[in-house]
Amino acid sequence: MTMNKKYNVAVVGATGAVGQKIIHYLEEKPFQVNNITLLSSKRSAGKKMTFDGKEITVKEATSDSFKDIDIAFFSAGGAVSKQLAPEAVKSGAIVVDNTSAYRMDENVPLVVPEVNAEDVKNHQGIIANPNCSTIQMVVALKPIQEAYGLNRVIVSTYQAVSGAGLAAQDELIEQTKQFLNEEEMEANILPAGADKKHYPIAFNALPQIDVFDESGYTKEELKMINETKKIMHEPSLQVAATCVRLPVLTSHSESVYVETANADVDVEDFRNTLKNGAGIIVEDDPSTQTYPTPLSASNKKEVFVGRIRSDFDQNNGFHFWVVSDNLVKGAAWNTVQIAETLVKNNLV
Ligand SMILES: NC(=O)c1ccc[n+]([C@@H]2O[C@H](COP(=O)([O-])OP(=O)(O)OC[C@H]3O[C@@H](n4cnc5c(N)ncnc54)[C@H](OP(=O)(O)O)[C@@H]3O)[C@@H](O)[C@H]2O)c1
Repeated sequence: MTMNKKYNVAVVGATGAVGQKIIHYLEEKPFQVNNITLLSSKRSAGKKMTFDGKEITVKEATSDSFKDIDIAFFSAGGAVSKQLAPEAVKSGAIVVDNTSAYRMDENVPLVVPEVNAEDVKNHQGIIANPNCSTIQMVVALKPIQEAYGLNRVIVSTYQAVSGAGLAAQDELIEQTKQFLNEEEMEANILPAGADKKHYPIAFNALPQIDVFDESGYTKEELKMINETKKIMHEPSLQVAATCVRLPVLTSHSESVYVETANADVDVEDFRNTLKNGAGIIVEDDPSTQTYPTPLSASNKKEVFVGRIRSDFDQNNGFHFWVVSDNLVKGAAWNTVQIAETLVKNNLV
């Protein structure tokens, strides 16, 4: 790492749920920031935010926003990334993109530093941050893949509303108030802002995250399936996903079933493998009711794993529970870690 070098950074979507967290983690100084440019849509332009105690005025993001920027963090939706990320690259910036716009592009590395940090070296200007539910799962799968090989993964998710942005968090809070006041709950955003029907999320569970594809899977489920194969460099890995939204504010939970390639794995060995995995904290003791929950994992950078069990019928089958903060490791922290990896490798 060039210790004395200071970097000019831009955050596109600075006023959003993810953007605000990116600013927070940059304040922890994983590398030195010389100058920070905070960008949003026209709506929030002129708003004042702070970085490191200094007041910064938010500006509207345009193609001219990236002069002299070294690293540009994009977190303002896929359409904005499609339009402005190539402009940022043309201006000489490296883009770390939080949206789904470039994740499956074969020229764009899709990176979770604990899993495939070396892929950053192949970048051609843009590096993609995976989907939140994928990130926490692959952190847990990595040590299992390394120790025993992986044949199959089946996951069901229990996802927080913050994954759908600040407006979805507000919707859950408003509907909760409406329900408790015996008023009709108003639903405008979930399960998917872009879809025709909306259902209340308060006191409910919605088996739809993002819109459906003609296969009958949702886009969120397809992201988990396709991104996992790409990040883990295992195109033939069998992955199936069912994604469900719950009335939880922050942190996604996942029930994961895996079948290892090695059929002779003891559950204690499996637990120790997870304990030694990078970025993982195992919280697993049924005798003391110890396991991670969304509330216990919120605002933390690690991926928490509990409820580790062998399958009764399948001798290479294991079940476990994975919880992580979708705005932290699932978005902002992983994004900042990617930038830190670029800096450490002198790639910026
Ligand atoms: N939340 C998660 O768990 C998560 C995880 C990974 C990735 N992501 C992705 O990150 C992106 C942002 O998510 P979020 O949860 O932070 O959403 P959010 O809370 O709704 O914030 C959206 C941000 O984008 C800005 N924006 C909207 N339209 C824009 C435009 N035309 N030009 C420039 N800026 C614009 C907004 O600015 P204004 O204040 O001006 O409206 C705001 O700063 C999405 O693409 C999402 O898919 C989210």
